[in-house]
Parts: sequence; C-alpha cells; structure tokens
Amino acid sequence: MFEFVTARELFELIQVGSQIEKDQLEYVELDGWVRTNRNNGSIGFIELNDGTYFKNVQLVYNKGDESYDLCASLNTGDAINAYGVFKITDGGKQPFEIILKKATLVSKCDPSYPLQKKRHGFEFLREIAHLRPKTNTFAAVFRVRSVLAMAIHEFFQNQGFVYVNGPIITGNDCEGAGETFTVTTLDDLSKGYKDDFYGKHTNLTVSAQLHAEAYAQCFRDVYTFGPTFRAEKSNTVRHAAEFWMVEPEIAFADLDDDMALIEDMVKYCITTVLEECPAEMEFFNKMIDTSLLERLNHVVNSKFEVMTYTQAIETLSKAIENGVKFENKNIEWGMDLNSEHEKYLCEQVVKGPLFLINYPKEIKSFYMKQNADGKTVAATDLLVPTVGEIIGCSEREADLDKLLEAMNIRGMNIDDYTDYISLRKFGSVPHSGFGLGLERIIMYVTGVQNIRDVILYPRTVGTIS
Ligand code: 4AD
Ligand code: MG
Repeated sequence: MFEFVTARELFELIQVGSQIEKDQLEYVELDGWVRTNRNNGSIGFIELNDGTYFKNVQLVYNKGDESYDLCASLNTGDAINAYGVFKITDGGKQPFEIILKKATLVSKCDPSYPLQKKRHGFEFLREIAHLRPKTNTFAAVFRVRSVLAMAIHEFFQNQGFVYVNGPIITGNDCEGAGETFTVTTLDDLSKGYKDDFYGKHTNLTVSAQLHAEAYAQCFRDVYTFGPTFRAEKSNTVRHAAEFWMVEPEIAFADLDDDMALIEDMVKYCITTVLEECPAEMEFFNKMIDTSLLERLNHVVNSKFEVMTYTQAIETLSKAIENGVKFENKNIEWGMDLNSEHEKYLCEQVVKGPLFLINYPKEIKSFYMKQNADGKTVAATDLLVPTVGEIIGCSEREADLDKLLEAMNIRGMNIDDYTDYISLRKFGSVPHSGFGLGLERIIMYVTGVQNIRDVILYPRTVGTIS
C-alpha cells in the first residue's frame, strides 16, 4: 500500500504500536526540509523535518540509487519530496526510517542560509527572528504556544464561559498607569485631539477587563483572549510592548472563587501541554531547564500556596536579617514588590506557585474591591518560579461610592468611565476576574527565560523588527 504521509502520522503510528497498520504501510511519500545530511560515500542519512512533528524523519539512501547524486548534494535548508519504503528499526536510535527510492528537489536553499547544524545562541537567533521557527527550540516554543492557546479556550469553553472580545482601540487606560500607545491620524497634535479621527484621545488597549465586566453582568462567566499593548519602558526579560492576555470575568464570585478558577486553569494548561507535546517538553527538559518536568509535574499535583502581602513583607524583612541579598533592600509595608522579591518568595520560600493576596490599595488599580481593613484590596498576583508574576487578579469594587472615591483619589476623569460606572447601578453583583499573560505562561511551561524568545516578532522598548 502507498500513502502520502506526514511525519506526525508516522510517529503516532509508532507510538500507538498497531502492528496491523504498520504492516500495511509500505511505500510512503512525504515532503519537507533537510535538517542534516551525512554520507560516507556508500550510504547516506538525511534528517528531514516536514513541520508537522517536532522530530525528524530519517531517510536512508545508498550508492547506486536512482537519486543518489541528488541526495548526496543536499544541504541543510533544501526542500525535497521523498518517496521510499517505511521500515521499523527495532532497537535503533530512530524508531523507523525510510529507505529512499526517489527524491525530488522542491527548492534549493541559498548557501547564505545562516542556520547550520550547530547550536545557535538565543541572541544570535533574535537577529534572524523570521528564521527561528526552523530551529528545534523555536519549533517547540511555537507548538507549545499553539497548544496552550487551545487549552485555554478548551478550559473555559468546557465550563460554559462565553468568549468575548474587547475593542483594541479604546479611550480608557484600565490599569491607570499612563503607559498607553496613543492612536491618532494627526501628524500635528499641537491643537489636541479635537480634529482627530474620534475627536478625542484614544489608545491601544492595555486590558480588556472593563469591557469584559460589561459582558459578565449578563453572561455571568466570560473570557477575552486578545492582543494587549503597553508602552512600559521596562527593558526586562518579561516585559513586551505587545503581548496576548486572557481575561476571564466571573459574576457572583469573590476572590476565593477566582483563585480556585486560576489554579484549575493553570493545572489544566500544564497537563494539556505535557500530554500533547511530549517530544517538545522532553527537549526543553534536556536543553533548556533540566528540572522543568519535575517542577511542572509537582505543580499539577500540589495545592498552590497563599500568603498575604503583609506576611510577604515580614518574610522578606526576615530574609534580609538572615543575610539574603536583594538589590532593593528597603522593605517596608506599602512598597511595590520587585521581581527579585517575588521570585524569592515563590522559588525559595514556598518552592512553587504562590498567590500573594491583599495588597495595599495605593499600589493597585482603582477597580479593586477594598477590604474591610480600609488599607488593602481583595487582589492577588500569582507568582511562579523562574518567571515571577504570570497573573494579576482581583475582586471588583461593586460599591459605587467606594469606586468613585478610588477614582477621585487617583485623579481619574470620571466622564471617561460613565458606561463602566453605570454598570454598578444596573443590577451590579459581586464579580471577579483576572488577567493571564500568554507569553508569561509559555515561559513558565517551557523554561525559556526571555519573553523575546516566545514571540516571533517581539516588540520591546527600543526594538522592532
Ligand atoms: O497585572 P496586570 O496589569 O492586570 C491587568 O491588566 C488586569 N486588568 C487583569 C484583569 O484582572 N482582567 O496584567 C495581567 C497579566 C500580568 O500578570 C502578566 O502576566 C501580563 O498580564 N503582563 C505582561 N506580559 C508581558 N509584557 C508586559 N508588559 C505585561 N504586562 C502585563
Ligand atoms: Mg500585575
């Protein structure tokens, strides 16, 4: 029997181990790109990657074959069509190989092709961003990215959440940090925005939350999943100016309900990636972070820890007394924690994911529900080892007077938020939500340490390609 096949089908066939199907498959045809080619003058081996599976398919060619000369001339990057006999290699390094009967050149790769067999560093590869998916590391990262995105949709859809989209161009700055990209058609802004496209200042969204809240007040459980933009001048390994955020919003729900949802979602995401990307995850565990699989398996099987902000401040102060070195040593209640503090808490203290709850209201956003102590808000950040914050979460302030007070204290223009505020008058119920940075969770599950290496075309302060 003859079949056009993909590498994925062949590798899956091997895994399932059905002898009948394997026996039926004799001649196969597939196409792909040459990763490596070696030959000793009488026998040669081509590692072919067809894009459907992480691992390469081994093609074997022999002196005297019809396509021997062509095969021997092939270089890394060439695209070919291959036809041959499928053979299981019991006990071999490869589970199977294809004994080539005929190869056809589809496209010759220019000798200037910069990717060669050796291992290339992340920094070098960032300079040829568009070729990165042709490397093992990036093929694995972007496959995991796709599987994670699907897992997120599945997780929410399975529980009846409605997928909604907020606008990309908006007049609000949800996080109130003033880190927005202005959207304008004007070259000259000296006369303000009166003559601009919308007749007022607008920007790219920093969060779809305020719009998601409107949907949650009718559908109850909703989520958004979309691009998000922040003109944060933080040149760090975990900040991008353009990233993707998942923002669920749940009605009749408090912070505890929200945290339970987060824990379930993170575990579901990890489990799905472990199940659906075993080859990729093995690769990360070998090449990027040798404790990755152990760590992720532990996370799936353990309860996330919870610590209050106040306890965190005490813990950090004690750590300094005990000789732990931080760049920022001025630990005091009311401060915003730095990444080094967050990492210390989850990596050294609880050694796993950590919900840090009840932050001082002054360092958090206007929409967060004020706790009865008058000082803190019902908010949490989920901190994880190796990355730090991957989720920002809170119960929303449902009390109109308290909401207005929080906005006034921050000097916000109430008129820009009339629709949002009116939600508090029309059957408003307790509700909560969170934002998960897609790139941050990709970093967490792959072990990749720089956000520039989980986005093909990263936009970060000072660079765009
Ligand atoms: O903590 P943040 O700012 O929370 C919000 O935007 C809320 N409105 C979410 C909500 O409750 N609906 O951002 C949420 C998450 C962060 O925890 C982080 O994972 C990611 O978004 N994030 C970034 N990721 C990459 N680059 C940046 N510059 C990011 N800023 C935030
Ligand atoms: Mg945050």
